[in-house]
This record gives sequence, structure tokens and C-alpha cells, in this order.
Amino acid sequence: MHPLGSGVTASDPRRDYQDPTVVASYEHERFRSPWGRVYAAMHRRGIRKALLHLEGQGTVLDVPCGTGRIAPLVTGLGLSYLGLDISTAMVSHCREHHGSRSGVVGLSVGDIERLPFEDASVDAVVCLKLLHLITVPNIALVLRECERVAARYIIFDIARHDRWTPLVRWFKRCYSPVKVRPYALSREEWTRLIEDADLDLEQRRHVMWPISESVILTCSKRTSACAPEPYPVRGAKRTISRQTTASTR
Ligand SMILES: C[S@@+](CC[C@H](N)C(=O)[O-])C[C@H]1O[C@@H](n2cnc3c(N)ncnc32)[C@H](O)[C@@H]1O
Repeated sequence: MHPLGSGVTASDPRRDYQDPTVVASYEHERFRSPWGRVYAAMHRRGIRKALLHLEGQGTVLDVPCGTGRIAPLVTGLGLSYLGLDISTAMVSHCREHHGSRSGVVGLSVGDIERLPFEDASVDAVVCLKLLHLITVPNIALVLRECERVAARYIIFDIARHDRWTPLVRWFKRCYSPVKVRPYALSREEWTRLIEDADLDLEQRRHVMWPISESVILTCSKRTSACAPEPYPVRGAKRTISRQTTASTR
């Protein structure tokens, strides 16, 4: 059984997704069950709302891009899509399925901890389904690197630990075919990580509260030269941490 086969916890996300058989079954295993479809739709909805802030202009770096499942969403909003992943097999799959899509401007293999891009060279960095697989020192590295490359926004999802977490884990054990056990951090730990990366939390959006641990966070650069407008999304959840400085407003 492969490391990411049913019933097994992720061990090394840099290595686990290199296997073409894992890549081939990636979307099917996660997002094709009834639960997976609902989750994927709600997750996509949250990402879409976060991306609306770019108002249909700019370039989005999706890292790790995996199979490129959000490429249609990004390009459908009129944005340019750049994908990067450490897994050659994932990038090949992404290229095969989305490489010729209008709006896809680059797909490459690389490490999120050392992004091969200039400072502030993309409008937004989207980092999905990675941070719950890595440890706190690595999360700190990743957030700093995303902050360096993004000119405006960093959008990422996390598994957040709160009082519902044990219930959610039980529910997932019963219904989800994917048994990757996430690292879930508390709100305080996330607040510290975000502040340490010089980011301001603009918005948090639970994907399926309270039956999923996933929360989508949208952060802006604290030192951004182009000050973002206040978040324009209808029905936005309340902000949990916001440190506004003169340079960002
Ligand atoms: C659970 S998948 C998520 C893929 C995609 N973001 C999604 O939402 O479907 C985790 C991905 O992270 C990639 N990955 C792991 N470590 C990485 C790193 N250091 N740099 C870039 N990609 C990495 C893996 O190759 C894999 O494609």
C-alpha cells in the first residue's frame, strides 16, 4: 500500500506525492465521494470568494498546485495562473489537464520553501492543503516565502484545532476515505505565525463549520506598497486578528 493509500497518515509530503499512482488517484480519493464532493464545492466557494478581491486582474501563484484543480477557478475569474509543485508527477498531471488552458502562464517543479520568483512578482499566492502536513518551523518558512513573492495577498487553508476537533476527527474517520492525519494548530498559534510572517489577517472563512477543521485564511502583506481596499466579500466572517500600520493603509 502506498504511503497515501487509505488508512495511512502522510509521512513526508515532499516525497509522498511523487508516485504517479498516488497522483492518478489524488482527486478521486479526496473529492469524488459524496462527502468529498460537498467539501470540494464548499472549499472552492471559499477560495473563489478570496480571489474575488483581485477583481479579475493579476497573476495567482498556486503552490503547491498538485493536479491543478483550482486552475479552472482562477482562470475563470480572468486571472493568470502559475502553478508550482515539488512533485514532477503532479506537475505533469497538471500540465496534461490544464497546460493548454487559456490563462495558464506557467507550470513548474519547485520547492515552496525556496520559490524561484522575484520579490512581489505575483499578485497573490494560494497555498492549499499543505500547511496541515508540515511542522511549525516549516509553516513559518513557507509563510515568509509566500509573503516575499506576493505583492498583495496570501490565501491558504489550515486545519485549526478547537473544541470541535475531536468530533470532526471522529466524523472523518467514519466518512472520509482519506486518512491523512493533519497537524491542527490553535487560533493563538496561527495568529503568532501570521504576525511573525509580517502578514495581516484580512479574513477567515470556515469551509464547513463545525464539521470540518478547514479554515481558509486571506492575509495581506503588511508592507505592501499597493494598499488593499477593505475586504469586499458579502457575508464575510469576522476578522480574528488585524494589525493595521500606516504603510498598509
Ligand atoms: C495534499 S496535496 C495538495 C495539492 C493542491 N494544493 C490541492 O489543494 O489539491 C500536497 C501537495 O504538496 C506538494 N508539496 C509537498 N511539499 C512541497 C514543497 N516543499 N514544495 C512544493 N510542493 C510541495 C506535494 O507534491 C503535493 O502535490
